[in-house]
Amino acid sequence: MPDYETVLLRNVGVEGSRTIDVYRSRGGYRGVEKALKQMADDEVVEEVKRANLRGRGGAGFPAGVKWGFLPKDRERTLLCVNADESEPPTFCNRVLMEHDPHQVIEGIIIAGFATRAQVAYVYMRVEFHEQFHIMQVAIDEAYAAGLLGKNILGSGYDLEVYVHRGAGAYVCGEETALIESIEGKRGCPRIKPPFPAIEGLFRRPTVVNNIETLANLPHIIERGADWFLGIGTANSAGPKLFCVCGPVNRPGCYEAPMTITCEELIMGDRFGQGMSGNASVQAVFPGGTSMGVLKADEVHMKMDFDDPRNFGLLGLGTAAAVVVGDKTDMRDVLRNMARFYALESCGQCTQCREGTNWMYRIASRIASGAGRIEDLDLLEEVAGRMGMMPGLSICGLPDGATFPVRGIVRKFRSELEEHIRGQEPAGAERVLSVLN
Ligand SMILES: Cc1cc2nc3c(=O)[nH]c(=O)nc-3n(C[C@H](O)[C@H](O)[C@H](O)COP(=O)(O)O)c2cc1C
Ligand code: SF4
Repeated sequence: MPDYETVLLRNVGVEGSRTIDVYRSRGGYRGVEKALKQMADDEVVEEVKRANLRGRGGAGFPAGVKWGFLPKDRERTLLCVNADESEPPTFCNRVLMEHDPHQVIEGIIIAGFATRAQVAYVYMRVEFHEQFHIMQVAIDEAYAAGLLGKNILGSGYDLEVYVHRGAGAYVCGEETALIESIEGKRGCPRIKPPFPAIEGLFRRPTVVNNIETLANLPHIIERGADWFLGIGTANSAGPKLFCVCGPVNRPGCYEAPMTITCEELIMGDRFGQGMSGNASVQAVFPGGTSMGVLKADEVHMKMDFDDPRNFGLLGLGTAAAVVVGDKTDMRDVLRNMARFYALESCGQCTQCREGTNWMYRIASRIASGAGRIEDLDLLEEVAGRMGMMPGLSICGLPDGATFPVRGIVRKFRSELEEHIRGQEPAGAERVLSVLN
């Protein structure tokens, strides 16, 4: 990979990077100055549209286009900042909040100004204790510096920011469940339409954006859409954060353009630095777990918004790669995946509530050694009968549940059949003891 200038993670490792003084000394808040003092809110929207900044929360929807769905008189708009980050094993938002909270706050102010929101809620999963305090300290600093509150930098624009902590549920990252949760209700997704841009939080027009999406805004405003489009490709533009974990030498969160391949992320010197011990790659879930799985001979896939579909995946997702080593039994991986989504279904839709649990029970039967060959077809059949794709659910959780399950069954069918026929491969490590 050619030399790349780090943008989103440029302050990570710099002493005092959480403080407003260090952030400013390294060029921070210049984007806000420019937006609020030299641009109209509509110009900010247009610049972000031109940059084709696609949402980093999983769906990849262009941020500027989403803002364009707001009613023309958007004075009642509310901004929800999605810091729930519950997709396994994703931790890009956590790294941004932990090491560079003012970059996130600067993005929030720019998004708030563009959408004319006067209140922003940062919705954070309950497990983020430390990140909650870091963000709150940074928000207090921003208020003290006149960057939040009334008449920001003398521009006449007002913005209040609150951090709201959820109780910890995967589904609360879904935008309408997040809205319900902020309203103090159970975090269950709402039927759409109406979409949040028309009727969202407290029934007001609402924009929901991911932390990483917002962290890109100061750079787009300061350096311009053309600079942003010069990184990666037109359809997958701008800096991107990637996570890698599993049996690799250097698990972590890395920044690169979206021209990077999954293989480079695992093997590259600046990234995962190869497999640890004597393990080799058996499988990779490259977009968080919910996007599906790659086999070892598919890791040349580009980590962009288009290529994953060529490999039968749902999309780029959160761009967090879980690597599975060759010693791991895929029956356990199958069961573990199915279990997660069964536990996280909110239960409103019959197909999701029953289907995810059904998949979990079948996967458990296979993992326990009592599976039948026809269970593999049964898994595929159940997986094909739920989710938003066939129009059978309120939210996308069951689609995220079926892609890994179907992917494992399709791509590792011969290995699973071999196991079911009772031929344990020598040296296979079972992880059932950590599951229940
Ligand atoms: C089950 C489920 C869980 C989700 N979890 C998250 C999450 O933790 N963080 C996130 O930003 N988006 C999550 N999303 C996507 C959000 O609904 C929404 O698309 C996103 O926050 C929009 O921000 P963006 O356009 O900036 O990406 C989830 C979606 C689903 C269906
Ligand atoms: S699809 Fe599943 S998680 Fe989503 S609302 Fe329905 S039951 Fe809840």
